Amino acid sequence: MLVRVRVDLGPRSYDVHIGEDILPQLGQAMVAAGPGRRALLVADGAVANSHAPLAASSLHAAGVETHLILIPPGESSKSLEGAARLYDACLECGLDRRSFIVALGGGVVGDLAGFVAATFMRGLPFVQVPTTLLAQVDASVGGKVAVDHPKAKNLIGAFHQPRLVWCDVRTLLTLPAPELAAGLAEAIKGGILASPHYYRFLAHQRQRILERDGPTLARVVSGAVRVKARVVAGDEREESGARATLNLGHTLGHAIEAVSGYGTIRHGEAVSIGMVAAGRLALGREMWSQRWQAEMEATLQGVGLPVRLPAPLPARDLLMAMSHDKKAVGGSLRWILPRRPGEVVVIPDVTTEEVMAAMAAVGVAV
Ligand SMILES: NC(=O)c1ccc[n+]([C@@H]2O[C@H](COP(=O)([O-])OP(=O)(O)OC[C@H]3O[C@@H](n4cnc5c(N)ncnc54)[C@H](O)[C@@H]3O)[C@@H](O)[C@H]2O)c1
Repeated sequence: MLVRVRVDLGPRSYDVHIGEDILPQLGQAMVAAGPGRRALLVADGAVANSHAPLAASSLHAAGVETHLILIPPGESSKSLEGAARLYDACLECGLDRRSFIVALGGGVVGDLAGFVAATFMRGLPFVQVPTTLLAQVDASVGGKVAVDHPKAKNLIGAFHQPRLVWCDVRTLLTLPAPELAAGLAEAIKGGILASPHYYRFLAHQRQRILERDGPTLARVVSGAVRVKARVVAGDEREESGARATLNLGHTLGHAIEAVSGYGTIRHGEAVSIGMVAAGRLALGREMWSQRWQAEMEATLQGVGLPVRLPAPLPARDLLMAMSHDKKAVGGSLRWILPRRPGEVVVIPDVTTEEVMAAMAAVGVAV
């Protein structure tokens, strides 16, 4: 079964297709999405043997002249040097402005290839074929593309919406379990912020999800994509504030990633701890119940996500990192807090005392 979710952005609208075993149809879908018949297929080295050959043969079969380039796995590939290597490849392959850049991999490959697609010849059509759960539920929707600067993640980037997103949940069968869990953190976040029905589905179908049952994984992805597509459609370039709600768990999550050193803890794991802290803060304001907090923690733990830091980090460093983060507005910290499953609120004036109490609850050394 193929599910199609529309991301409604006027002339930049596109469809996210989700299904099991749909990689062989990628080429036909791409031919339908644009007139170009040449593509640079940018693939994560980890999928070189498992999924890249099928993607490449699907493009060839559809009449698309395809050049494959492999990217070393890991965040360090998401750099200006990495982008420069791809620009060289674009030139060597003779890409023109109708040619496609196709990203086959997780968020790293998606962000890097998308950045190159946004900038080479002032923009080429971009196709995302995400192969991690995190990239399927989150990174592939919304058009944010970027490379890292040595001083900060995602500092150099653009908004460049894909023409097409092709999520084959079969590619998730080769994903290591901690990477699957990291993606589930963003899915659970989507449920808490906008869909109680989806949130309950994730909690109840935990076993099937962890067993990687195909139709269940397709529902996981389509549910999260629907939530994100709705939010992004209302605030494409993060201007009205609606898109900020997607940052539930990210205020502390980003600080944890920065202070512990990028790569020490996965983004989804940091977001899981960040959501627990946001819940604690909301509890302190009596806007969220103890029962919902316990349910959220059980749901996160049930899929293998942490609800406390594995080792304490200093509160002072985390506060400093949060104040540098783009979610700090005019001195006071802006947090996204849950009000009930399916609803969050943006609180612009969270105090340091509240943050300290919430951080202590997730194992920060205060
Ligand atoms: N653009 C956005 O909106 C957005 C949103 C969230 C995250 N991101 C970015 O995404 C990145 C994180 O994404 P990620 O978690 O997908 O990380 P990732 O791309 O590093 O992939 C995680 C690991 O899984 C491996 N892998 C990928 N697909 C596989 C498969 N099918 N089988 C086996 N191994 C596979 C990769 O080699 C890597 O080791 C970060 O750079 C983050 O900034 C972007």
